[in-house]
Amino acid sequence: MPLSAPPESVEIQLGDRSYPILIGSGLLGDPGSYAALPSAATALIVTNTTVAPLYAETLRAALANRFRAVHLLELPDGEAYKDWQTLNLIFDALLSHGCDRKTVLFALGGGVVGDMTGFAAASYMRGVPFVQVPTTLLAQVDSSVGGKTAINHPLGKNMIGAFYQPRLVLCDLSTLTTLPPRELSAGLAEIIKYGPIHDMAFMDWIEANIDAMVARDPSALAHAVKRSCEIKAEVVGQDERETGLRAILNFGHTFGHAIESGLGYGEWLHGEAVGCGMVMAAHLSQRLGGVDEAFVQRLTALIQKAGLPVVGPALGAERYLELMRIDKKSEAGEIRFVVIDKPGSAIMRGAPDAMVREVLAQCCEKN
Ligand code: NAD
Ligand code: GLY
Repeated sequence: MPLSAPPESVEIQLGDRSYPILIGSGLLGDPGSYAALPSAATALIVTNTTVAPLYAETLRAALANRFRAVHLLELPDGEAYKDWQTLNLIFDALLSHGCDRKTVLFALGGGVVGDMTGFAAASYMRGVPFVQVPTTLLAQVDSSVGGKTAINHPLGKNMIGAFYQPRLVLCDLSTLTTLPPRELSAGLAEIIKYGPIHDMAFMDWIEANIDAMVARDPSALAHAVKRSCEIKAEVVGQDERETGLRAILNFGHTFGHAIESGLGYGEWLHGEAVGCGMVMAAHLSQRLGGVDEAFVQRLTALIQKAGLPVVGPALGAERYLELMRIDKKSEAGEIRFVVIDKPGSAIMRGAPDAMVREVLAQCCEKN
């Protein structure tokens, strides 16, 4: 997308909590991007030590005429810091700067900064406005949209959090130029997810454009971000609090979260774990009769082409099962998986432990 192109806009329709997702290049530094935000005296930009030197001053300058004071907080970088102690640094900053109920929080970074800033915004003074400024591909296509906010607990991923919607999501595609290749691949996992669960035409498009996206072709990435946000907006608009449909967005996540917490947060990237988790979930879907082997192979090949791992770590089947029981979708100790019931459609259901063990044996490294 050329620098001068006007932003694309996707609307999340949630009544009085509706908001736009603006997608384009150079948006972050354009004061006009923030024109519709509520007026306030102060803003707090929450970012991390990696993203701050790249983009914090650009954002601060764009906000300077809108707020009397724009404060900046740099958190330590990494999934391992998505915890209570680091969350508390946001409350420390808000209180020490005398931030009030109208203070606007800006989450500048990937999904870790976004999830933590959103949770802080949901709870500071029982709720203050916040804006998502996602700078990773994963955050632009998934985590910044839809209002899930959380921190991890040592016993389970994203276990403590709230549903709390941002006022605006600003996907500045030019920030993707500085993203390390491994992080780009992690974002591709969440893009690939939308095909098998909802839109096989998008899956065809992803297959045709996977090399272009890996090579960071701007128009391919722009289309992928927009279509992903459209699908997520459609699903969240129907089921904001995940009483049913929204669970399909967790395709691959039950296995993936077990990999993340089983190995220790940060060992595998979230998107890597989801990519590999989708391979496992596809095998489970095949055993349950939703898809054939050709479909599993097709999805596996696509995930591999995105530069993602397709073989799970050797945690041991019993450990996987133990970790997956802590998943938020579990009910009365029964693990519930998102599986493909036909290409382009997903459902949530249980599966016999013996079948899950077979899938793990087939998809994981041997001890
Ligand atoms: P991340 O936030 O850890 O960011 C990845 C890395 O890229 C970090 O080191 C970060 O500092 C760096 N980075 C960010 N932007 C950069 C840029 N433009 N240039 C260079 N480096 C940059 O990871 P992520 O993949 O963005 O997000 C993963 C997190 O999102 C997980 O905690 C996951 O649970 C969460 N998530 C939440 C939702 C949701 O709906 N809320 C959905 C999916 C994932
Ligand atoms: N990433 C899953 C969801 O937002 O529901």
